[in-house]
Amino acid sequence: MITKTIEDLSTLVSLSKRRGFVFQSSEVYGGLGSCWDYGPLGSLMKANVKRAWWKAMTRRADIVGIDAAILMHPTVWKASGHVDGFSDPLVDCKDCKTRFRSDNTESYLKHQKCPNCGSKNLSEPRQFNLMFKTTMGPVEDSSNVIYLRPETAQGIFVNFVNCQQSSRYKVPFGIAQIGKSFRNEITPGNFIFRTREFEQMEMQYFVKPGTDAQFFEEWKETRWNFYLKYGIKKENLQFHPHGPTELAHYAKAAVDVQYKFPMGFSELEGIHNRGDFDLTQHSKFSGKSLEYFDEANKEKYIPYVIETAVGCDRLFLAFMCDAYREEVTTSEKGEDTRLVLGLHPQIAPIKVAILPLSKKDELTSVAEKLRNELAEDFDVIYDESASIGKRYRRQDEIGTPFCVTVDFDTLNDQAVTVRHRDKMTQERIGCTQLSSYISEQLKRF
Ligand code: GAP
Repeated sequence: MITKTIEDLSTLVSLSKRRGFVFQSSEVYGGLGSCWDYGPLGSLMKANVKRAWWKAMTRRADIVGIDAAILMHPTVWKASGHVDGFSDPLVDCKDCKTRFRSDNTESYLKHQKCPNCGSKNLSEPRQFNLMFKTTMGPVEDSSNVIYLRPETAQGIFVNFVNCQQSSRYKVPFGIAQIGKSFRNEITPGNFIFRTREFEQMEMQYFVKPGTDAQFFEEWKETRWNFYLKYGIKKENLQFHPHGPTELAHYAKAAVDVQYKFPMGFSELEGIHNRGDFDLTQHSKFSGKSLEYFDEANKEKYIPYVIETAVGCDRLFLAFMCDAYREEVTTSEKGEDTRLVLGLHPQIAPIKVAILPLSKKDELTSVAEKLRNELAEDFDVIYDESASIGKRYRRQDEIGTPFCVTVDFDTLNDQAVTVRHRDKMTQERIGCTQLSSYISEQLKRF
Protein backbone atom coordinates (compact mmCIF):
# COMPACT_ATOMS: atom_id res chain seq x y z
CA MET A 1 0.00 0.00 0.00
CA ILE A 2 1.23 3.51 -0.82
CA THR A 3 0.12 6.40 1.37
CA LYS A 4 -0.06 9.86 -0.19
CA THR A 5 -0.36 13.05 1.85
CA ILE A 6 -1.79 16.39 0.80
CA GLU A 7 0.07 18.29 -1.92
CA ASP A 8 -2.22 21.14 -2.74
CA LEU A 9 -4.80 23.14 -0.79
CA SER A 10 -7.24 22.89 -3.71
CA THR A 11 -7.74 19.22 -2.78
CA LEU A 12 -9.04 20.30 0.62
CA VAL A 13 -11.11 23.13 -0.81
CA SER A 14 -13.03 20.67 -2.98
CA LEU A 15 -13.35 18.01 -0.26
CA SER A 16 -14.60 20.71 2.11
CA LYS A 17 -17.28 21.84 -0.31
CA ARG A 18 -18.31 18.33 -1.35
CA ARG A 19 -18.68 17.04 2.21
CA GLY A 20 -19.88 20.19 3.97
CA PHE A 21 -16.86 21.38 5.92
CA VAL A 22 -16.31 24.84 4.44
CA PHE A 23 -18.15 26.81 1.74
CA GLN A 24 -17.28 30.09 0.14
CA SER A 25 -19.25 32.88 1.81
CA SER A 26 -22.19 34.26 -0.20
CA GLU A 27 -21.41 31.77 -2.95
CA VAL A 28 -24.72 32.31 -4.76
CA TYR A 29 -23.64 35.92 -5.32
CA GLY A 30 -20.24 34.91 -6.63
CA GLY A 31 -18.61 34.79 -3.20
CA LEU A 32 -17.00 37.43 -1.01
CA GLY A 33 -13.23 37.73 -1.04
CA SER A 34 -11.53 35.60 1.61
CA CYS A 35 -14.68 34.97 3.66
CA TRP A 36 -15.75 31.40 4.33
CA ASP A 37 -18.72 29.67 5.94
CA TYR A 38 -18.44 26.51 8.00
CA GLY A 39 -20.95 23.88 6.89
CA PRO A 40 -22.70 21.08 8.79
CA LEU A 41 -19.50 19.08 9.38
CA GLY A 42 -17.19 22.10 9.55
CA SER A 43 -19.18 23.79 12.29
CA LEU A 44 -19.10 20.58 14.37
CA MET A 45 -15.36 20.22 13.84
CA LYS A 46 -14.65 23.87 14.58
CA ALA A 47 -16.55 23.55 17.87
CA ASN A 48 -14.33 20.54 18.68
CA VAL A 49 -11.15 22.51 17.90
CA LYS A 50 -12.30 25.28 20.23
CA ARG A 51 -13.34 22.81 22.91
CA ALA A 52 -9.90 21.14 22.85
CA TRP A 53 -8.12 24.49 23.25
CA TRP A 54 -10.56 25.82 25.86
CA LYS A 55 -10.20 22.63 27.89
CA ALA A 56 -6.39 22.75 27.68
CA MET A 57 -6.48 26.29 29.06
CA THR A 58 -9.38 26.71 31.45
CA ARG A 59 -9.25 23.29 33.15
CA ARG A 60 -5.91 24.37 34.58
CA ALA A 61 -6.05 25.66 38.14
CA ASP A 62 -4.33 28.91 37.10
CA ILE A 63 -6.40 30.07 34.10
CA VAL A 64 -9.86 31.63 33.87
CA GLY A 65 -11.87 32.31 30.72
CA ILE A 66 -13.72 35.38 29.46
CA ASP A 67 -15.86 36.36 26.51
CA ALA A 68 -15.40 40.07 25.82
CA ALA A 69 -17.34 42.22 23.34
CA ILE A 70 -16.00 42.65 19.83
CA LEU A 71 -16.70 46.38 19.91
CA MET A 72 -14.52 48.22 22.40
CA HIS A 73 -13.92 51.81 23.44
CA PRO A 74 -11.96 53.44 20.58
CA THR A 75 -9.23 54.59 22.96
CA VAL A 76 -8.34 50.92 23.51
CA TRP A 77 -6.88 50.88 19.99
CA LYS A 78 -4.96 54.11 20.52
CA ALA A 79 -3.44 52.72 23.71
CA SER A 80 -2.64 49.36 22.12
CA GLY A 81 -0.80 51.00 19.23
CA HIS A 82 -3.20 49.70 16.58
CA VAL A 83 -4.46 53.11 15.41
CA ASP A 84 -0.93 54.32 14.69
CA GLY A 85 0.98 51.14 14.02
CA PHE A 86 -1.25 48.34 12.70
CA SER A 87 -0.69 48.92 9.02
CA ASP A 88 0.91 47.53 5.88
CA PRO A 89 2.75 49.60 3.24
CA LEU A 90 0.73 49.62 0.00
CA VAL A 91 1.70 50.57 -3.53
CA ASP A 92 -0.73 51.36 -6.39
CA CYS A 93 0.10 50.51 -9.99
CA LYS A 94 -1.00 53.56 -12.00
CA ASP A 95 -1.36 51.48 -15.18
CA CYS A 96 -3.32 48.36 -14.23
CA LYS A 97 -4.65 49.75 -10.91
CA THR A 98 -3.44 46.75 -8.91
CA ARG A 99 -2.77 47.49 -5.27
CA PHE A 100 -0.15 45.38 -3.52
CA ARG A 101 2.02 45.23 -0.41
CA SER A 102 5.47 46.64 -0.98
CA ASP A 103 7.14 44.76 1.87
CA ASN A 104 6.58 41.20 0.65
CA THR A 105 6.13 41.48 -3.12
CA GLU A 106 9.18 40.01 -4.82
CA SER A 107 8.91 41.87 -8.16
CA TYR A 108 8.65 45.16 -6.28
CA LEU A 109 11.45 44.45 -3.83
CA LYS A 110 13.85 43.27 -6.56
CA HIS A 111 12.89 45.39 -9.58
CA GLN A 112 10.37 48.01 -8.35
CA LYS A 113 7.82 46.47 -10.76
CA CYS A 114 4.08 45.81 -10.53
CA PRO A 115 3.50 42.08 -9.84
CA ASN A 116 0.49 42.10 -12.19
CA CYS A 117 1.57 43.97 -15.35
CA GLY A 118 5.27 44.64 -14.77
CA SER A 119 4.81 48.42 -15.02
CA LYS A 120 7.19 50.73 -13.20
CA ASN A 121 4.58 53.49 -13.08
CA LEU A 122 3.91 53.07 -9.35
CA SER A 123 2.88 55.23 -6.42
CA GLU A 124 5.05 55.67 -3.33
CA PRO A 125 4.25 53.12 -0.57
CA ARG A 126 1.50 54.40 1.74
CA GLN A 127 0.56 53.00 5.12
CA PHE A 128 -2.83 51.27 5.10
CA ASN A 129 -4.44 50.54 8.48
CA LEU A 130 -5.76 47.00 8.75
CA MET A 131 -8.59 47.73 11.19
CA PHE A 132 -12.18 47.69 9.94
CA LYS A 133 -13.96 50.89 10.86
CA THR A 134 -17.64 51.45 11.42
CA THR A 135 -19.74 54.00 13.29
CA MET A 136 -21.72 53.49 16.47
CA GLY A 137 -25.26 54.83 16.79
CA PRO A 138 -27.49 56.38 14.13
CA VAL A 139 -25.21 59.27 13.15
CA GLU A 140 -22.34 58.57 10.78
CA ASP A 141 -19.82 60.97 12.18
CA SER A 142 -16.07 60.81 12.71
CA SER A 143 -16.64 61.22 16.44
CA ASN A 144 -18.60 57.93 16.43
CA VAL A 145 -15.93 55.86 14.75
CA ILE A 146 -15.48 52.45 16.25
CA TYR A 147 -13.35 49.48 15.20
CA LEU A 148 -13.98 45.79 14.82
CA ARG A 149 -11.30 44.29 17.06
CA PRO A 150 -8.20 43.11 15.17
CA GLU A 151 -7.19 40.83 18.07
CA THR A 152 -8.98 39.43 21.11
CA ALA A 153 -6.05 40.18 23.42
CA GLN A 154 -7.12 43.72 24.29
CA GLY A 155 -10.41 42.47 25.78
CA ILE A 156 -8.27 40.51 28.20
CA PHE A 157 -5.90 43.35 29.14
CA VAL A 158 -8.69 45.78 29.95
CA ASN A 159 -10.36 43.10 32.10
CA PHE A 160 -7.20 42.11 33.95
CA VAL A 161 -8.23 43.76 37.23
CA ASN A 162 -11.87 42.59 36.95
CA CYS A 163 -10.80 38.99 36.43
CA GLN A 164 -8.09 39.04 39.08
CA GLN A 165 -10.33 40.55 41.72
CA SER A 166 -13.45 38.51 40.97
CA SER A 167 -11.60 35.19 40.77
CA ARG A 168 -9.09 36.09 43.54
CA TYR A 169 -6.32 34.42 41.53
CA LYS A 170 -2.77 35.33 42.39
CA VAL A 171 -0.04 36.10 39.86
CA PRO A 172 1.04 34.01 37.99
CA PHE A 173 -2.30 33.30 36.39
CA GLY A 174 -3.85 33.50 32.94
CA ILE A 175 -6.99 34.65 31.14
CA ALA A 176 -8.16 32.77 28.05
CA GLN A 177 -10.57 33.84 25.35
CA ILE A 178 -11.95 32.61 22.03
CA GLY A 179 -13.58 35.04 19.67
CA LYS A 180 -13.82 36.70 16.29
CA SER A 181 -11.22 39.17 15.07
CA PHE A 182 -11.22 41.21 11.88
CA ARG A 183 -8.33 42.47 9.76
CA ASN A 184 -8.62 44.14 6.41
CA GLU A 185 -5.73 42.01 5.10
CA ILE A 186 -4.20 43.16 1.82
CA THR A 187 -3.16 39.70 0.75
CA PRO A 188 -5.60 37.20 2.21
CA GLY A 189 -5.63 33.74 0.73
CA ASN A 190 -4.70 30.11 0.90
CA PHE A 191 -8.27 29.09 1.72
CA ILE A 192 -8.94 29.69 5.45
CA PHE A 193 -5.26 30.34 6.27
CA ARG A 194 -5.51 34.12 6.04
CA THR A 195 -8.94 35.71 5.99
CA ARG A 196 -10.43 39.05 6.91
CA GLU A 197 -12.81 37.63 9.52
CA PHE A 198 -11.39 34.86 11.69
CA GLU A 199 -11.47 33.43 15.18
CA GLN A 200 -8.60 33.67 17.60
CA MET A 201 -7.86 31.59 20.68
CA GLU A 202 -5.67 33.73 22.89
CA MET A 203 -4.36 33.38 26.41
CA GLN A 204 -2.52 36.05 28.37
CA TYR A 205 -0.49 34.76 31.29
CA PHE A 206 0.34 37.44 33.88
CA VAL A 207 3.66 36.96 35.67
CA LYS A 208 5.98 38.80 37.99
CA PRO A 209 8.64 40.77 36.06
CA GLY A 210 11.86 38.81 36.10
CA THR A 211 10.07 35.45 35.85
CA ASP A 212 8.88 36.14 32.29
CA ALA A 213 11.74 34.40 30.44
CA GLN A 214 11.12 31.17 32.35
CA PHE A 215 7.34 31.24 31.69
CA PHE A 216 7.97 32.02 28.02
CA GLU A 217 9.94 28.76 27.76
CA GLU A 218 7.28 26.83 29.72
CA TRP A 219 4.51 28.03 27.42
CA LYS A 220 6.50 27.11 24.34
CA GLU A 221 6.68 23.53 25.60
CA THR A 222 3.04 23.43 26.72
CA ARG A 223 1.76 24.61 23.38
CA TRP A 224 4.04 22.26 21.44
CA ASN A 225 2.70 19.32 23.47
CA PHE A 226 -0.88 20.41 22.80
CA TYR A 227 -0.36 19.90 19.07
CA LEU A 228 1.26 16.51 19.57
CA LYS A 229 -1.56 15.43 21.90
CA TYR A 230 -4.12 16.15 19.20
CA GLY A 231 -2.19 14.13 16.66
CA ILE A 232 -0.29 16.72 14.61
CA LYS A 233 2.81 15.00 13.22
CA LYS A 234 5.99 16.19 14.88
CA GLU A 235 7.83 16.49 11.57
CA ASN A 236 5.21 19.03 10.41
CA LEU A 237 5.88 21.41 13.31
CA GLN A 238 8.74 23.76 14.02
CA PHE A 239 9.54 26.81 16.11
CA HIS A 240 10.52 30.01 14.35
CA PRO A 241 12.06 32.54 16.76
CA HIS A 242 11.60 36.18 15.69
CA GLY A 243 14.69 38.19 14.96
CA PRO A 244 14.84 41.87 16.09
CA THR A 245 13.37 43.13 12.77
CA GLU A 246 10.37 40.76 12.94
CA LEU A 247 9.30 41.62 16.51
CA ALA A 248 5.89 43.29 16.88
CA HIS A 249 5.87 46.74 18.51
CA TYR A 250 4.77 45.26 21.86
CA ALA A 251 7.03 42.20 22.01
CA LYS A 252 10.20 41.64 24.05
CA ALA A 253 10.58 38.17 22.57
CA ALA A 254 8.49 36.07 20.20
CA VAL A 255 8.43 32.67 18.63
CA ASP A 256 6.01 31.24 16.07
CA VAL A 257 4.88 27.66 16.09
CA GLN A 258 4.93 26.93 12.39
CA TYR A 259 3.06 24.16 10.61
CA LYS A 260 4.08 22.64 7.29
CA PHE A 261 1.07 23.65 5.18
CA PRO A 262 1.10 22.62 1.49
CA MET A 263 2.53 26.10 0.68
CA GLY A 264 5.40 25.57 3.14
CA PHE A 265 6.11 26.12 6.83
CA SER A 266 3.94 29.05 8.00
CA GLU A 267 2.81 30.57 11.28
CA LEU A 268 0.18 28.62 13.18
CA GLU A 269 0.54 30.22 16.60
CA GLY A 270 2.44 33.17 18.05
CA ILE A 271 3.96 33.02 21.53
CA HIS A 272 5.01 36.45 22.73
CA ASN A 273 6.61 38.01 25.75
CA ARG A 274 4.71 41.31 25.77
CA GLY A 275 6.43 42.62 28.88
CA ASP A 276 4.29 45.25 30.65
CA PHE A 277 3.53 47.11 27.40
CA ASP A 278 -0.24 46.65 27.31
CA LEU A 279 -1.12 47.13 30.97
CA THR A 280 1.15 50.20 31.14
CA GLN A 281 -0.47 51.69 28.03
CA HIS A 282 -4.03 51.08 29.26
CA SER A 283 -3.11 52.50 32.63
CA LYS A 284 -1.72 55.61 30.94
CA PHE A 285 -4.66 56.14 28.57
CA SER A 286 -7.42 55.31 31.08
CA GLY A 287 -5.87 56.95 34.11
CA LYS A 288 -6.68 53.79 36.14
CA SER A 289 -4.13 51.77 38.03
CA LEU A 290 -3.68 48.30 36.56
CA GLU A 291 -1.09 47.28 39.11
CA TYR A 292 -1.17 44.03 41.00
CA PHE A 293 -0.65 43.92 44.75
CA ASP A 294 1.32 40.92 45.94
CA GLU A 295 0.00 40.41 49.46
CA ALA A 296 2.62 37.89 50.50
CA ASN A 297 5.55 40.18 49.68
CA LYS A 298 3.70 43.46 50.16
CA GLU A 299 4.79 44.73 46.77
CA LYS A 300 3.00 46.38 43.87
CA TYR A 301 3.89 45.91 40.23
CA ILE A 302 2.54 45.83 36.71
CA PRO A 303 2.71 42.17 35.65
CA TYR A 304 4.48 41.06 32.49
CA VAL A 305 2.49 39.06 29.99
CA ILE A 306 3.27 35.87 28.13
CA GLU A 307 0.77 35.48 25.33
CA THR A 308 -0.16 32.41 23.30
CA ALA A 309 -2.28 33.26 20.24
CA VAL A 310 -3.55 30.82 17.63
CA GLY A 311 -6.14 31.19 14.91
CA CYS A 312 -8.97 28.69 15.19
CA ASP A 313 -9.48 28.62 11.43
CA ARG A 314 -5.77 28.18 10.83
CA LEU A 315 -5.61 25.32 13.31
CA PHE A 316 -8.68 23.78 11.66
CA LEU A 317 -6.77 23.92 8.37
CA ALA A 318 -3.65 22.40 9.95
CA PHE A 319 -5.72 19.53 11.36
CA MET A 320 -7.29 18.90 7.96
CA CYS A 321 -3.93 18.99 6.13
CA ASP A 322 -2.25 16.74 8.69
CA ALA A 323 -5.09 14.21 8.68
CA TYR A 324 -5.54 13.93 4.92
CA ARG A 325 -4.23 10.74 3.38
CA GLU A 326 -4.88 8.63 0.31
CA GLU A 327 -4.20 4.91 0.74
CA VAL A 328 -3.53 3.41 -2.66
CA THR A 329 -3.59 -0.39 -3.06
CA THR A 330 -3.01 -2.30 -6.23
CA SER A 331 -4.43 -5.75 -6.95
CA GLU A 332 -5.34 -7.78 -10.00
CA LYS A 333 -8.63 -5.80 -10.06
CA GLY A 334 -6.67 -2.59 -10.51
CA GLU A 335 -5.84 0.39 -8.33
CA ASP A 336 -8.00 1.38 -5.39
CA THR A 337 -7.74 4.59 -3.37
CA ARG A 338 -9.13 4.96 0.14
CA LEU A 339 -9.34 8.62 1.13
CA VAL A 340 -9.07 9.00 4.91
CA LEU A 341 -9.17 12.02 7.17
CA GLY A 342 -7.24 10.54 10.08
CA LEU A 343 -8.45 13.24 12.48
CA HIS A 344 -7.95 12.83 16.20
CA PRO A 345 -11.31 11.34 17.35
CA GLN A 346 -11.96 14.31 19.63
CA ILE A 347 -11.51 16.69 16.69
CA ALA A 348 -13.47 14.58 14.16
CA PRO A 349 -16.91 16.12 13.50
CA ILE A 350 -18.81 12.84 13.74
CA LYS A 351 -17.83 10.16 16.24
CA VAL A 352 -20.16 7.36 15.19
CA ALA A 353 -21.97 6.38 11.99
CA ILE A 354 -24.95 4.06 12.28
CA LEU A 355 -25.30 1.90 9.19
CA PRO A 356 -28.15 -0.62 8.90
CA LEU A 357 -27.12 -3.37 6.49
CA SER A 358 -30.49 -3.27 4.72
CA LYS A 359 -33.37 -0.81 4.39
CA LYS A 360 -35.83 -3.37 5.77
CA ASP A 361 -37.97 -1.97 8.58
CA GLU A 362 -36.89 -4.61 11.06
CA LEU A 363 -33.29 -3.36 10.78
CA THR A 364 -33.86 0.37 10.31
CA SER A 365 -36.12 0.55 13.37
CA VAL A 366 -33.35 -0.95 15.54
CA ALA A 367 -30.72 1.27 13.87
CA GLU A 368 -32.78 4.45 14.33
CA LYS A 369 -33.36 3.64 17.99
CA LEU A 370 -29.63 3.10 18.45
CA ARG A 371 -28.92 6.36 16.63
CA ASN A 372 -31.19 8.29 18.98
CA GLU A 373 -29.68 6.69 22.07
CA LEU A 374 -26.11 7.41 21.00
CA ALA A 375 -26.97 10.98 20.01
CA GLU A 376 -27.44 11.71 23.72
CA ASP A 377 -23.67 11.33 24.12
CA PHE A 378 -22.05 11.84 20.72
CA ASP A 379 -22.38 13.50 17.35
CA VAL A 380 -23.72 10.71 15.18
CA ILE A 381 -24.75 10.23 11.57
CA TYR A 382 -27.24 7.77 10.10
CA ASP A 383 -26.78 6.39 6.60
CA GLU A 384 -28.77 3.63 4.96
CA SER A 385 -28.08 4.27 1.27
CA ALA A 386 -25.57 2.44 -0.99
CA SER A 387 -23.44 -0.63 -0.29
CA ILE A 388 -21.79 -0.98 3.11
CA GLY A 389 -18.35 -0.60 1.49
CA LYS A 390 -19.35 2.72 -0.07
CA ARG A 391 -20.81 3.90 3.23
CA TYR A 392 -17.57 3.06 5.08
CA ARG A 393 -15.68 5.12 2.50
CA ARG A 394 -18.02 8.07 2.97
CA GLN A 395 -17.24 8.03 6.68
CA ASP A 396 -13.49 7.56 6.16
CA GLU A 397 -13.23 10.74 4.15
CA ILE A 398 -14.89 12.82 6.85
CA GLY A 399 -12.83 11.22 9.60
CA THR A 400 -15.54 9.28 11.49
CA PRO A 401 -13.60 7.02 13.89
CA PHE A 402 -16.34 4.38 14.39
CA CYS A 403 -18.86 2.84 12.03
CA VAL A 404 -21.58 0.71 13.61
CA THR A 405 -23.28 -1.86 11.39
CA VAL A 406 -26.69 -3.18 12.35
CA ASP A 407 -27.24 -6.54 10.60
CA PHE A 408 -29.71 -9.40 10.73
CA ASP A 409 -27.74 -11.09 13.54
CA THR A 410 -28.41 -7.98 15.64
CA LEU A 411 -32.06 -9.06 15.85
CA ASN A 412 -30.95 -12.26 17.62
CA ASP A 413 -27.83 -11.33 19.58
CA GLN A 414 -28.60 -7.63 20.31
CA ALA A 415 -25.05 -6.81 19.21
CA VAL A 416 -23.56 -4.71 16.40
CA THR A 417 -20.29 -4.64 14.46
CA VAL A 418 -18.00 -1.70 15.24
CA ARG A 419 -15.52 -0.95 12.49
CA HIS A 420 -12.46 1.21 13.27
CA ARG A 421 -11.46 3.87 10.73
CA ASP A 422 -7.66 3.56 10.75
CA LYS A 423 -7.01 -0.18 11.01
CA MET A 424 -10.38 -1.19 9.57
CA THR A 425 -10.62 -3.89 12.27
CA GLN A 426 -14.07 -4.99 13.41
CA GLU A 427 -15.49 -6.01 16.79
CA ARG A 428 -18.86 -7.28 17.91
CA ILE A 429 -20.27 -5.20 20.78
CA GLY A 430 -23.56 -5.56 22.65
CA CYS A 431 -26.04 -2.74 21.94
CA THR A 432 -26.37 -1.85 25.62
CA GLN A 433 -22.55 -1.54 25.98
CA LEU A 434 -22.07 0.52 22.83
CA SER A 435 -22.14 3.98 24.39
CA SER A 436 -19.68 3.13 27.18
CA TYR A 437 -17.47 1.26 24.67
CA ILE A 438 -17.23 4.35 22.44
CA SER A 439 -16.59 6.63 25.44
CA GLU A 440 -13.76 4.33 26.53
CA GLN A 441 -12.26 4.29 23.05
CA LEU A 442 -12.40 8.09 22.80
CA LYS A 443 -10.68 8.47 26.19
CA ARG A 444 -7.71 6.42 24.96
CA PHE A 445 -6.61 9.23 22.69
N1 GAP B 1 -2.60 39.11 20.09
C1 GAP B 1 -1.52 38.72 19.27
C2 GAP B 1 -1.91 38.44 17.91
O1 GAP B 1 -3.03 38.66 17.49
P1 GAP B 1 -0.96 37.53 15.65
O2 GAP B 1 0.32 36.77 15.40
O3 GAP B 1 -1.24 38.73 14.83
O4 GAP B 1 -0.92 37.87 17.20
C3 GAP B 1 -2.22 35.34 16.26
O5 GAP B 1 -2.18 36.53 15.52
C4 GAP B 1 -2.73 34.19 15.40
O6 GAP B 1 -4.01 34.53 14.86
C5 GAP B 1 -1.85 33.85 14.21
O7 GAP B 1 -0.79 33.00 14.58
C6 GAP B 1 -2.84 33.16 13.30
O8 GAP B 1 -3.01 31.81 13.69
C7 GAP B 1 -4.13 33.91 13.59
N2 GAP B 1 -4.36 34.93 12.55
C8 GAP B 1 -3.84 36.18 12.50
N3 GAP B 1 -4.27 36.83 11.39
C9 GAP B 1 -5.09 35.96 10.76
C10 GAP B 1 -5.87 36.04 9.55
N4 GAP B 1 -5.90 37.13 8.82
N5 GAP B 1 -6.58 34.95 9.18
C11 GAP B 1 -6.58 33.82 9.94
N6 GAP B 1 -5.89 33.70 11.07
C12 GAP B 1 -5.14 34.75 11.49
